[in-house]
Amino acid sequence: MRVVSGIQPTGKPHLGNYLGAIVNYVKLQDEAQAAGGECFIFLADLHALSQPHNPNELSQNTREMVATLVACGVNPSKTVLFNQAQVPAHAELQWLLNGTARMGWLNRMTQWKDKAGKNREGQSVALFTYPVLQAADVLLYQATHVPVGEDQKQHLELARDIAQKFNNDFCPEDAPLFTLPEPYIPPAAARIMSLRDGTAKMSKSDPSEMSRISLTDDADTVMKKVKKAKTDPEPLPSEEAGLDNRAEAKNLVGIYGALTGTNTSDILAEFGGQGFGAFKPALGELLVETLRPINARFMELKDDQEALDAILARGAAQAREHGIPTLNATYTALGLVRG
Ligand code: TYM
Repeated sequence: MRVVSGIQPTGKPHLGNYLGAIVNYVKLQDEAQAAGGECFIFLADLHALSQPHNPNELSQNTREMVATLVACGVNPSKTVLFNQAQVPAHAELQWLLNGTARMGWLNRMTQWKDKAGKNREGQSVALFTYPVLQAADVLLYQATHVPVGEDQKQHLELARDIAQKFNNDFCPEDAPLFTLPEPYIPPAAARIMSLRDGTAKMSKSDPSEMSRISLTDDADTVMKKVKKAKTDPEPLPSEEAGLDNRAEAKNLVGIYGALTGTNTSDILAEFGGQGFGAFKPALGELLVETLRPINARFMELKDDQEALDAILARGAAQAREHGIPTLNATYTALGLVRG
């Protein structure tokens, strides 16, 4: 069992990142350890170059993201925790896989289409080739499980396509080089939506702070954001079907379910018939209780730059070591001569 996943250190991590991905980093880190496997979690700082960025903010955010992940339960003695920039094999393998990835595949990526919009010519090449780096990230460690939210599913399908084509083109049939990675997507929290618009995903890049709960928000801010979350005037339904076409209500019930591990029908059995005036404070309290220990731990860690850098340096050394066999085998399979 090889668990591999990444998160971009751009902006503050939010509830969507937490429920969609980070909770499963922690769950799978423990499962991997119990199974004698490994877990690699990295900060995708190289991916952050695909959009205009401020270098000072990037290094600051990278350290804060380490502190957040550790505060959420990612344990550097169980997980190899590092940033891509300290493991050159990610960028190297991306280049080697660029010969296998097809323009048509990348052109079909919805993230590329959404982010580029009508201005494709003005985008960085990095935004276009971003999914090839993501494929390199997971294939380098022969990932079996990749915990992600649903928005990353298409990128992982692309990673599988690249792996399969490379294995077909350059490896003997009985000795494929790359393992095909499987996405690990939580059914209840695959896609947490914006608090301001139930049809848009909760995102670090949304200009409105009110659209998301940041993992470092204090209790008052959390309560305020939940109370101001967009809803409709109807009370909650008693049956699940009553949430159809009520995107905002469905999202809030979904968040409640993901936090408590209860299913929608049980939540509606409790809150059906009640208005948001009753449901929102209950949800707000639940969020505050969930985030309280994360917040406290984050505050302890965030200013200890030395400790955070030491975690990254140690993780990077381990990651470099683990990546060597696959990187070397890729050079060899491609017929590249290295002294
Ligand atoms: P990023 O930084 O946008 O998000 C990190 C993780 O959070 C998940 N996520 C969500 N899940 C549910 N609801 C949401 N609203 C929501 N928003 C974000 C994402 O699916 C992701 O799992 N390209 C990736 C980083 C990456 C990566 C990788 C991931 C680079 N290389 C290799 C896996 C494997 C990204 O930008 O995630």
